[in-house]
Amino acid sequence: MILITGGAGYIGSHTTMALLEKGEDIIVFDSLDTGHIETIETLKNYGNLKFVKGNLKNLDEIRGVFMSNKIDSVIHFAAFSQVGESVTNPQKYYYNNVYGTLNLLNAMLEFGVKKIVFSSTAATYGEPEYTPIDESHPQNPINPYGNTKLMVEKIMDDYNKAYGLKSVRLRYFNVAGADTNTRIGEWHEPETHLIPNVLKATKEQTFKLFGTDYNTIDGTCVRDYINVEDLAQAHICALMYLNNGGETNYFNLGTKTGNSVKEVFSVCEKIKGEKIPLEYLPRREGDPAILVADNTKAKQILNWNPNKSLEDSIKTANEWNKILTNKQY
Ligand code: UFG
Repeated sequence: MILITGGAGYIGSHTTMALLEKGEDIIVFDSLDTGHIETIETLKNYGNLKFVKGNLKNLDEIRGVFMSNKIDSVIHFAAFSQVGESVTNPQKYYYNNVYGTLNLLNAMLEFGVKKIVFSSTAATYGEPEYTPIDESHPQNPINPYGNTKLMVEKIMDDYNKAYGLKSVRLRYFNVAGADTNTRIGEWHEPETHLIPNVLKATKEQTFKLFGTDYNTIDGTCVRDYINVEDLAQAHICALMYLNNGGETNYFNLGTKTGNSVKEVFSVCEKIKGEKIPLEYLPRREGDPAILVADNTKAKQILNWNPNKSLEDSIKTANEWNKILTNKQY
């Protein structure tokens, strides 16, 4: 059985769906602080899924899961992930993302589970020194969120050396899109990400574009948008890698292509088939001008093959946005 923490969240739910469709037995452990019970109810229709509501900050709750189930490996998504909030409330981030993960790793060691795939982030690199960013780029996070993820990466290295706990850390760039069949999708409250914010903009609540004076092709920030279903597949590849005896490792997950905020905005307008109300605002604090992944390592070692375009992601995001707007989840 595979334990998925944070399986009610955005990336966790798409990975759970992909694994259920492969016939895997899954147990999701999620606090539902940011995830949604409706997502779990949907996922249950597609395979053998057990759900436990619990918090990683409570060691006994996660120990209980290992005690009552035969867990073979873990995919660990559960974390808070808003960069801005991590700056104003670092305690929430260190306590949940670092302490919570320590509890999970303690339980794994106690019950002899030695394989984990971990959601890391491009935010561990901080302000890029060069692009595209490969895995040997220095890791100097510029916010508490990035710090928590880097700390966990370091803990995993030390636990590997001391206890033989094998980890694959997946450093996501900008994740986009929804399930092709619109069963699940991106559902954050509040929503801070570009694509859902563009798609849901109205005359009353215009889309706010942050910063037009960056040193990029059109003055707006450039990001590497990786489709969420392609990303889910990378987790399956990472599990296979560990199951085949792979050593502790880490990979960038992106497309090696950058798109500016203005480019994303115009693809959204094209797909929606209408003008989207737009307002220009000054730069948002902490946004690097360009973040693009060199994904060569993941392709070579994990045999991962992302094949969905930005347009594919925006199409599914747009369909999911209609479901969210009409509360049809
Ligand atoms: N943007 C807007 N308006 C919005 C939202 C975003 O103009 O309403 C712009 C941002 O300023 C940025 C770009 O769109 O230039 C992308 O912003 P997102 O918030 O969608 O994504 P980020 O690049 O800020 O963040 C992503 C992940 C984080 C991760 C970070 C790594 O969501 O979890 O990459 O740098 F930490």
